[in-house]
Amino acid sequence: MKFKTMAALAVTTAFAVPLAQAQDTIKVGVIAAFSGPFADYGKQMEGGIKAWIAKNGDTVAGKKIQVIYKDTTGPSPEIAKRLAQELVVRDKVDFLAGFGLTPEALAVAPIAQQAKKPMIVMNAATSIITTKSDYIARFSMTLPQISAPMGDWAVKNKIRNVATVVADYGPGIDAEKAFSERLAKNGGKVVEAIRVPLRNPEFAPYIQRIKDAKPDAVFVFVPAGEQSIAFMKGYRERGLLDAGIKVIATGDLTDDHVLPAMGDATLGVITTFHYSAAHKSPENEAFLKSFAGANPKGGRPNFMAVAAYDGMNAIYQVSQKLNGKIDGPKAMAVLKGMKINSPRGPISIDPATRDVVQTVYVRKVEKIGNEPYNVEFDQFPNQKDPGKEGK
Ligand code: PHB
Repeated sequence: MKFKTMAALAVTTAFAVPLAQAQDTIKVGVIAAFSGPFADYGKQMEGGIKAWIAKNGDTVAGKKIQVIYKDTTGPSPEIAKRLAQELVVRDKVDFLAGFGLTPEALAVAPIAQQAKKPMIVMNAATSIITTKSDYIARFSMTLPQISAPMGDWAVKNKIRNVATVVADYGPGIDAEKAFSERLAKNGGKVVEAIRVPLRNPEFAPYIQRIKDAKPDAVFVFVPAGEQSIAFMKGYRERGLLDAGIKVIATGDLTDDHVLPAMGDATLGVITTFHYSAAHKSPENEAFLKSFAGANPKGGRPNFMAVAAYDGMNAIYQVSQKLNGKIDGPKAMAVLKGMKINSPRGPISIDPATRDVVQTVYVRKVEKIGNEPYNVEFDQFPNQKDPGKEGK
């Protein structure tokens, strides 16, 4: 709008329309790593957001949705915090969103709380995150939610003695605890528990330790991407496959985006997870089509793209319900109990914890045509985050 018309409008409506209502955009600030070792996280989320907008347009309740992307280069909690402050104070965003890595989500939680800004978590998966601000709603997963069912599946399938390998930070420790407890409850046992550093882990010596412990299987959580590739390379090269030691893992290990580059050592790997690109449903078909159209060089979308797509769906629903006037407490009331027919299957937001409730699938890496996929063959419906039981 030209200044002259704006001035004219101001004269006629100065007393009738408060300034906030005159704004014609809803702003979403997306904080994630877009460069550095976790660059794929930001790119997947951006891809999912673009897929949502391509399918649903960029206007809600008569307002234009403006997405502002900010690169933490992380994992970097300090940068994430500074970017959140800038987005709130300078850009005056209505929503904070993104968050691939737990330390970055934790660093931003106090800002969401203080500024009363809804914070839509699109990956970061340590159980405790949603307890750190009343303004957080999580559309991804939690590691206990994904890992505990594997403790059931393993024992049912005669896997009793297990070595665990997890990244040594929030989500890894959550995964180790939830899996080990469920395994023990079913009569299984952890024979070796290994934690590897988050930054640049050297897997070879750990993999040797696993081999020496002679377990039935190794349970793995490493953050999706480069580390998945590094672990599977070590697994193959150190002869675990030949020694008959199976891999059971959270689906981060066989992340859809990197799976095609991981080679045949992944064939047969069993994982529990909330999303597979091979999930059969009309919602997933529509998502894959929209993702491919909006991201011609994006490759295969993974779980972070789906969580971002669903997170945008939630932002649109909130904006619609509030008629374009975003207010923190009112937005949270809309988010609590929200239901979405996600590309992964039905999900909802638990009103008590603001965490996602969803089906956890058991999958096996198999080839469909020439390409490896996580093929779902069993499921645990309606899983809440067990990490918050009794809290
Ligand atoms: C996290 O930091 O919370 C995180 C990162 C990567 C994953 C899962 C969780 O694959």
